[in-house]
Amino acid sequence: MRKNIVAGNWKMNTTVSEGVALAKEVSEAVKAANPKCEVVICTPFTHLCPVAGVIDTAVLGLGAENCADHEKGAYTGEVSAAMVASTGATHVILGHSERRQYYGETSETLREKVALALANGLTPIFCIGEVLAERENGTFNEVVAKQVEEGLFNLSAEDFGKIVLAYEPVWAIGTGKTATAEQAEDMHAWIRSVIAGKYGKEVAENTSILYGGSCKPSNAAELFAKPDVDGGLIGGAALKCADFMGIVNAF
Ligand code: PGA
Repeated sequence: MRKNIVAGNWKMNTTVSEGVALAKEVSEAVKAANPKCEVVICTPFTHLCPVAGVIDTAVLGLGAENCADHEKGAYTGEVSAAMVASTGATHVILGHSERRQYYGETSETLREKVALALANGLTPIFCIGEVLAERENGTFNEVVAKQVEEGLFNLSAEDFGKIVLAYEPVWAIGTGKTATAEQAEDMHAWIRSVIAGKYGKEVAENTSILYGGSCKPSNAAELFAKPDVDGGLIGGAALKCADFMGIVNAF
């Protein structure tokens, strides 16, 4: 059966010392709460090693927010999947809409990143989602299906089974405007049907699909109650331990 997961996406926030303090606080809170879901925090690259040293990895997973699309070598400024894994991280966010929008990530580069992440034992949290114009012109189902197909459908069923998906409507990210629980459920059910069409019902049923976009303690329970919403990818609300835990405890 698929897992419920709440993952924090810290984005480009906190210094190392601030991040270590937050991670420690979250780790202790998760341990005390004994939540009904898996909990992960995804931090900037600079934070991974020191954070790995202060969290209890039995209760809290650690991830990066990106990795390179090449194995190693002359790619100044890039951080490889092997480097990420060597910090103790277990997850990596790939294809976040901010990466697609501001750094020109395409399905082609994402296929490379996914392959390298998997080869290094990392769990990709693969992000998909439509922009506002696509929501308004009604093409959102096709847009999201295309992102899943182009980015992931080259994988074997076994490898696809290692992917976590995060549906994040771009118009809801950091805007305070959340998709309604019905909009999220409709899209998640659609994504699951697209996966079933390629890999079969069993693989689709076993895939965790998280919702992201202005998820907060006040709306998490309603979103997570939907049958096809298996948790959340949390941006802004992951930067305050109490808010993040409010979401974790919504399960
Ligand atoms: P948000 O970000 O929760 O701040 O909207 C979510 C994300 O981009 O992962």
